[in-house]
Amino acid sequence: MKIKFVYFGLGVLFLAHFGESQNATFDITKYGATANADISEAVGKAFKEACASTSPSTIVIPKGTFQMNQVLLEGPCKGPIELQIQAILKAPTDPNAIKTGEWLTVNKLDFFTMSGGGTLDGQGKEAWECKKSKKCTKLPNNLSFNSLTNSIIKDITTLDSKAFHVNVNQCKNLTFTKFNVSAPADSPNTDGIHVARASSVNITESSFSTGDDCISIGDETEQLYITKVTCGPGHGISVGSLGGNPGEKPVVGVFVKNCTLVSTDNGVRIKTWPASHPGVVSDIHFEDIIVQNVSNPIVIDQVYCPSGKCNKDLPSQVKISKVSIQNIKGTSRTQNAISLTCSKGSPCEGVEVGDVDISYSGKEGPAKSSCENIKPTFKGKQTPAVCSAGADAPAPAAAAS
Ligand SMILES: *[C@@H]1O[C@H](CO)[C@@H](O)[C@H](O)[C@H]1NC(C)=O
Ligand SMILES: *[C@@H]1O[C@H](CO)[C@@H](O)[C@H](O)[C@H]1NC(C)=O
Ligand SMILES: *[C@@H]1O[C@H](CO)[C@@H](O)[C@H](O)[C@H]1NC(C)=O
Ligand SMILES: *[C@@H]1O[C@H](CO)[C@@H](O)[C@H](O)[C@H]1NC(C)=O
Ligand SMILES: *[C@@H]1O[C@H](CO)[C@@H](O)[C@H](O)[C@H]1NC(C)=O
Ligand SMILES: *[C@@H]1O[C@H](CO)[C@@H](O)[C@H](O)[C@H]1NC(C)=O
Repeated sequence: MKIKFVYFGLGVLFLAHFGESQNATFDITKYGATANADISEAVGKAFKEACASTSPSTIVIPKGTFQMNQVLLEGPCKGPIELQIQAILKAPTDPNAIKTGEWLTVNKLDFFTMSGGGTLDGQGKEAWECKKSKKCTKLPNNLSFNSLTNSIIKDITTLDSKAFHVNVNQCKNLTFTKFNVSAPADSPNTDGIHVARASSVNITESSFSTGDDCISIGDETEQLYITKVTCGPGHGISVGSLGGNPGEKPVVGVFVKNCTLVSTDNGVRIKTWPASHPGVVSDIHFEDIIVQNVSNPIVIDQVYCPSGKCNKDLPSQVKISKVSIQNIKGTSRTQNAISLTCSKGSPCEGVEVGDVDISYSGKEGPAKSSCENIKPTFKGKQTPAVCSAGADAPAPAAAAS
């Protein structure tokens, strides 16, 4: 593709595209894609040409319903690429159709955009049954973004993933906006977005309904902003679980702000394994959050052990510090509205609790909090009172001995 400057008499300078393809748009129907057939090869071919284009290019998957098997789009490419998915894309229903890797993987691109208003339908039902009956162990995630920089994912829906909907790994400056994730409450491990080894990731104006965490945050995540997100059903927005593997790098700078959680198991949560490897979680901020009918709205759990097969006598070695909890309002579905269980070997430090107003209307009595190995500082007003019984909040020095 060449760009020529065309000069017109009236002194107006036009920028025009000329060259062999006239226009850097690659419509997959020009690469052999037809409705209801597998389009993975056509997408691959279109991507190959787009990737070689030095000017910005757009790959279009037009409106319609297409089958798509496994696709890998891998850079580096010569110019920015937009993948416009206007279609409904259907994954193979057979959980074994994808042996390794993910359904759609996008790697090593700079200035990548995914857009188009389309839907990625993981058709996970068969896979979930397989998993529940323990016949399938490892299932593919829906979407995997690795080593992307300066990229945007917008106006996309992902439905019924077989496993995690989206895995974000080693990305820098990546924004999700108007990104919707939807799977039933009882679908196993269908986390919305899992972010790890990434920095400057924004997730905003997006909605998540899943059978697991709406957003989960793994090690080496830095400067993650989650704003104007709704979550539910699901397990909430979670930092962790951490400490499960040796050499995990710190999670530093997570800002969850202006979000709403409805009928989720947890609201905002930090979870680390007992008997863990060392780790660091710092600079975490939960602010302006609405919880409605959330089972456990505010949670720090350093004895997280869903399998029940952990050595809970040995403490977590993940150090949690500089956490703020500010302006959290709404209703709890259980009496235990606030549960801050820090590690006896590595108590939480620098936790600040601001305005909290969470009510519970069960027959046991009003909402309450529980605290271990934490001494928060307070600002504003808390309902229920947080860590008020000093007895169950031993000083860090005493706990560490
Ligand atoms: C290329 O042409 C398509 C229609 O064929 C149009 O939708 C698109 O905006 C054009 N792209 C560029 C970069 O000019
Ligand atoms: C982040 O990526 C966006 C989208 O490509 C870009 O507009 C912006 O300039 C990038 N920001 C930085 C700090 O590089
Ligand atoms: C991410 O969100 C933060 C806070 O809203 C904002 O300051 C920052 O510019 C955003 N970054 C991108 C790449 O959009
Ligand atoms: C995505 O979620 C938002 C917020 O819940 C909603 O307004 C929007 O209609 C959804 N978009 C799609 C394509 O489902
Ligand atoms: C975000 O804040 C605005 C203004 O305070 C509010 O109208 C909106 O409902 C909030 N959104 C969420 C998802 O909490
Ligand atoms: C409260 O949440 C539970 C799931 O945790 C759900 O089954 C129930 O329908 C919700 N109740 C309301 C009133 O939304």
